[in-house]
Amino acid sequence: MDKKFRVGLIGCGGIAKAAHIPSYLLEKRAEVVAVCDIIQERAEGVKKTVFHNASVYTDYKDLLKDESIDYVDICVPNYMHSVIAVDALNAGKHVLCEKPDAVSVEKALEMKEAAERNGKTLMVIRNNRFIDTSKRIKEMAEEGFFGEFYAGRCGWIRRRGIPGKGGWFTTKAQSGGGPLIDLGVHMIDLAVWFMGNPKPVAVTGNTFCKFADAEVMNSPESKFGDTVENGTFDVEDLAMGAIRFDNGAVLQIEFSWASNIKKETRFVELRGERAGLSWNGGNAEVYYEEKGKQKNKKVGGNPVKLPHKVNISHFIDVLEGKAEPVFVPDQGIDMIKILTAIYESAETGKEVRL
Ligand SMILES: NC(=O)c1ccc[n+]([C@@H]2O[C@H](COP(=O)([O-])OP(=O)(O)OC[C@H]3O[C@@H](n4cnc5c(N)ncnc54)[C@H](O)[C@@H]3O)[C@@H](O)[C@H]2O)c1
Repeated sequence: MDKKFRVGLIGCGGIAKAAHIPSYLLEKRAEVVAVCDIIQERAEGVKKTVFHNASVYTDYKDLLKDESIDYVDICVPNYMHSVIAVDALNAGKHVLCEKPDAVSVEKALEMKEAAERNGKTLMVIRNNRFIDTSKRIKEMAEEGFFGEFYAGRCGWIRRRGIPGKGGWFTTKAQSGGGPLIDLGVHMIDLAVWFMGNPKPVAVTGNTFCKFADAEVMNSPESKFGDTVENGTFDVEDLAMGAIRFDNGAVLQIEFSWASNIKKETRFVELRGERAGLSWNGGNAEVYYEEKGKQKNKKVGGNPVKLPHKVNISHFIDVLEGKAEPVFVPDQGIDMIKILTAIYESAETGKEVRL
């Protein structure tokens, strides 16, 4: 077998345990040789239970001194993504980083520049692109099945599901925002990717915070992050808005961690000139007309239990020179431009031009 990539896993919390660690157990081309968490027991716990030969660190800067490490996988709170990514790239490592790319456009640009300056690969997780139905829709879009997409809606609207209430998720300085930056990055990315990555030119947005002081239940979807009693909650719990693109297309958006609605939904709906689509929780359907009849057709695909594994394998394919990156940092910069401009629009009450 070819060389195994030596990986430093930084952050051993919710998503590392739910998705990254299970993925590395399946990915034979990579070996986690170092684990790091500021909470020592968490890193020790991962060594004890999974990666028995890994070195344990509490300061990522010490991990970066290990010259044998090829890339780091960053699973820490949002505000630390760019800080650790830039240091890792400067230390000569490739970087795979959890979403969202960064908490400001400036920081996302710093990440891209550090990757270019050091000649290293930077990829931010976009796990929903790696579900079979997503890949098939993307192929159909590229084959011209839908024609140009000119309008759509996307959202992730939870009835209940605030992650780590009172902790870093609900603290603007550490998260960059609420469900818009947490969930928005997933579904806006999928919609914009299906649309062929048109350039965003303007946004409008509104945000609401109605559940900060309320006793609210959680959902299985909100298992991430630690809750902190009487902690900070200075982000929105609902964001709505619209994004306009350079080709005239408009995408409506809605993201919530808590809303008094019947049921949680996670969706992208796009209208093309020839056909439309709905992607809902990983299931997809397309709508069109054929020989004077309306047709609705399910988009096939194997259920993907662990999209992160497919994302990580793709990152390794790129490092091995076997694939062109599906995600490039410019797409992350556009994403953070959209999200931060929606927050600005919500504050000013005005459309924001990008
Ligand atoms: N792609 C997805 O579907 C998905 C899902 C959930 C979370 N995430 C993202 O993953 C990241 C982590 O989220 P989470 O839910 O695992 O949060 P978490 O709070 O459960 O885990 C974060 C871990 O990072 C550790 N940490 C904090 N600062 C650190 C530092 N400087 N160095 C090393 N370790 C540090 C914490 O102690 C904690 O164990 C976030 O950016 C989040 O947006 C992505």
